[in-house]
Amino acid sequence: MIRLSILLLFVLAAIAEWQEGSSDPPRGVGTGGAAILPAAVLAGARRLRFGSKSGEFKILQVADMHYADGKETGCLDVFPDQLSTCSDLNTTAFIYRVIRHENPDFIVFTGDNIFGIDSKDASKSLNAAFEPAVALKLPWAAVIGNHDQEGTLSREGVMQHIVGMDHTLSQLNPTGIEIDGFGNYNLEVRGAEGSALANKSVLNLYFLDSGDYSTVPAIPGYGWIKPSQQVWFQKTSSRLQKEYMRGALQQKDPAPGLVYFHIPLPEFSYFDASNFTGVKQEGISSASINSGFFATLVEAGDAKAVFTGHDHLNDFCGKLIGIQLCYAGGFGYHAYGKAGWSRRARVVSASLEKTLSGEWGGVKSIKTWKRLDDEHLSTIDTQVLWIKGSTGRRRKSTVPN
Ligand SMILES: *[C@@H]1O[C@H](CO)[C@@H](O)[C@H](O)[C@H]1NC(C)=O
Ligand SMILES: *[C@@H]1O[C@H](CO)[C@@H](O)[C@H](O)[C@H]1NC(C)=O
Ligand SMILES: *[C@@H]1O[C@H](CO)[C@@H](O)[C@H](O)[C@H]1NC(C)=O
Repeated sequence: MIRLSILLLFVLAAIAEWQEGSSDPPRGVGTGGAAILPAAVLAGARRLRFGSKSGEFKILQVADMHYADGKETGCLDVFPDQLSTCSDLNTTAFIYRVIRHENPDFIVFTGDNIFGIDSKDASKSLNAAFEPAVALKLPWAAVIGNHDQEGTLSREGVMQHIVGMDHTLSQLNPTGIEIDGFGNYNLEVRGAEGSALANKSVLNLYFLDSGDYSTVPAIPGYGWIKPSQQVWFQKTSSRLQKEYMRGALQQKDPAPGLVYFHIPLPEFSYFDASNFTGVKQEGISSASINSGFFATLVEAGDAKAVFTGHDHLNDFCGKLIGIQLCYAGGFGYHAYGKAGWSRRARVVSASLEKTLSGEWGGVKSIKTWKRLDDEHLSTIDTQVLWIKGSTGRRRKSTVPN
């Protein structure tokens, strides 16, 4: 209620300011028709789109910041002689550094954004953790992990706080349906401005709440993605595929989808060093039962990659039945890690194809690499995650069986 009336005041103030004839419309206003609404209200309507010069859309994934009280909060797993000069502020400095070098179009924070137990005030910790994205006015989204709610805010409270922040495209949940968790939503990335696909979503981003801990006494361990969330995913994916493949400018194949959440699926344990890129230095801390989300993803057909955090010492991508399962590796300095093994971030870059007439079309390929917080901000493990036409397409078998 309090939040609502503050929002209302904000809207009224913005309208008043606009009507006074200030030359600029209120901050955050896009090209849509609703030119009198401030950023917080417009966030949901703000469009992500591919660059019309580069034909590229670049996403920075930041996993497991474990932010607490800023400079008062020390670092874990750094060398002993680094302890006295290391705090949450090193996490902030790393975000600025990687943004400066990569210039991403969008940032996704995949949970354990704050470490609730060590935070005096969860709202302040959240504000500090996401400050670089807000200050640089970069569109960003977040999901929650298993530690975000361990401070002064509940899971709903944390997600609601995030949704109210500036420049975020995060959403609490879809409206009009009952769904488990907080922070289940999708975002569309439109084709390049001026191209035929300018008003179509050529890349779909899905965000889910993978829960915290099991509430079923007979099942120990972490939470999982529930049937209600899987039904929402399935329906959303199906709707987006119809929109892309029917009607005006119908496309042959679905637009690729990327799926972001915190806790890895049990299928992350199906790989070893012979079939992944990156490293596995600890076990896969998924839920102890398999709720079937991987099967739902395979069945939907548009999801090409899943990105999680949670296990800070794992940073690999491995491909199973046409879907890349990727960790980002730990980012935050107040999160456990390994001294001498740099904190890191995952970057994903999707590129458009050129049509015969020379304009930008749909997505042609999706690449990824990691950036390390070392002296040179090293780039490692560059790999292609997906190429159009190479996976997920039904072909008639030419081999008799
Ligand atoms: C943390 O930041 C301080 C101040 O810039 C710097 O001196 C220190 O080396 C950093 N520590 C680590 C572990 O990167
Ligand atoms: C996209 O929508 C805008 C605004 O409605 C319109 O002006 C433009 O012609 C559309 N472009 C395409 C390629 O459909
Ligand atoms: C990866 O390779 C191992 C053998 O080294 C095999 O047991 C496993 O099934 C492979 N996983 C996938 C997903 O291909």
